[in-house]
Amino acid sequence: ATANIGVVGLAVMGSNLARNLASREGNTVAVYNRTYARTEELLSEHPEAGFVASETIDDFVASLAKPRTAIIMVQAGAGTDAVIGQLVERFEPGDIIVDGGNANFHDTIARESRIAPTGIHFVGAGISGGEEGALHGPSIMPGGSAESYETLGPILASIAAVAEGEPCVTHVGTDGAGHFVKMIHNGIEYADMQLIAEAYDLLRTVGSLQPAAIADVFARWNEGPLESYLIEITAEVLRQVDPATGRPFVDIVLDQAGSKGTGVWTVQNALDLGVPVGGIGEAVFARAVSSKPAQREAVQRIVNSRPTVQEADASFADDVAKALYASKVVAYAQGFDAIIAGAEKYGWDIHKDRIAKIWRGGCIIRAQFLNRIAEAYDENPDIATLLEAPYFAQAVADGEAAWRRVVATSALSGVPVPGFSSALSYYDSLAVKRLPAALVQGQRDFFGAHTYKRVDKPGTFHTLWSGDRTEVEVPGH
Ligand code: 6PG
Repeated sequence: ATANIGVVGLAVMGSNLARNLASREGNTVAVYNRTYARTEELLSEHPEAGFVASETIDDFVASLAKPRTAIIMVQAGAGTDAVIGQLVERFEPGDIIVDGGNANFHDTIARESRIAPTGIHFVGAGISGGEEGALHGPSIMPGGSAESYETLGPILASIAAVAEGEPCVTHVGTDGAGHFVKMIHNGIEYADMQLIAEAYDLLRTVGSLQPAAIADVFARWNEGPLESYLIEITAEVLRQVDPATGRPFVDIVLDQAGSKGTGVWTVQNALDLGVPVGGIGEAVFARAVSSKPAQREAVQRIVNSRPTVQEADASFADDVAKALYASKVVAYAQGFDAIIAGAEKYGWDIHKDRIAKIWRGGCIIRAQFLNRIAEAYDENPDIATLLEAPYFAQAVADGEAAWRRVVATSALSGVPVPGFSSALSYYDSLAVKRLPAALVQGQRDFFGAHTYKRVDKPGTFHTLWSGDRTEVEVPGH
């Protein structure tokens, strides 16, 4: 037994993570893949890594020093369960199995509770940053027991991205907390991407800019408060020219966005938790709408005139930047609200400032912006919403007029901006003194005697709608 850490599953993410581990002082990495040919390929491509390779799972387990620690990097679902089963059979109490895939956190909770009686630690760890991140430093979100983190923490810290001198890894919480937070990360990722895409659409349609010019706008934005990995790569994608046709790359890509499911999970769980995550929801739906060619073509056939695109003035791009920033604050506020609700429901002691900090580097949503979120929660972990943190309150107030102009211009021009407009509606919903929810309560009471509360006295009431329309107090509420 010579390796302090093992990796099972050597597809791109797994082999990059294994190489990352091997490149750090003090690590000896055992590797195992179901088909040995892949292992041999990795060994020949990367002799410098000094991998301890095994052809069988028995040899792999034997190559691990105790407590044995193995990170599984295989496809979420059945593949993961098969490998977990093989390891559980061979591991001993105190050993650690890490699932580094994009597992559904409900599965992680179930797996952890199934494995816990064996004394083996099962850790669901969210790993973000794609292939490059896995190789050079991802953001890592491990759940599982605090005890397992004593062994695992230093190993993960050795490979994680570093932001402002701190490794982008923290013990998120017990059992499924890590995969839950990774799921929310992905939901926010969806929202951020959709908002950026809407900004592009506006600059192109209303602003009459070509993709290369929009790339310059994004590159400029990347020097300011919007600085982020997603803005940076957007500029690169927009600057790309299709070698075959000479056209902008963005124009030769079919406009139907796919997804692998984590965004949908975020929304499904937010619905269960009763947390409004409209920004994330609209991003998921926007991908769904894009992938419905039949409906799109049907409406395009019946529509014979489209609104006249409004004229953009000189400050339009700045307005869009402000609208983007304000909408982004809303999306992150909603994501963190979902984290708070999840932590409460599943009993996790999640430190929001630490989550913001480990998202500053390595992951897809990495951004300067996350420093401000970390500061906000560090200053006052009990704020009701990120929107009330002084920095964000000020930023949104500064951008509010521009935000409204952009949403109005979009509506008048017929440019779909589900992200921008839902974020603004969410903000307005929180900001107005009275919501029409009072009328909804009236309707519910009318047709279903669902009762209502009054603004002027305690108690629960019902109006006798089909009788004389007097009000009765409903006892026992
Ligand atoms: C990451 C990414 C990664 C992946 C997602 C999103 O954090 O590194 O989020 O996990 O790209 O699965 O993919 P879809 O857009 O296909 O859902």
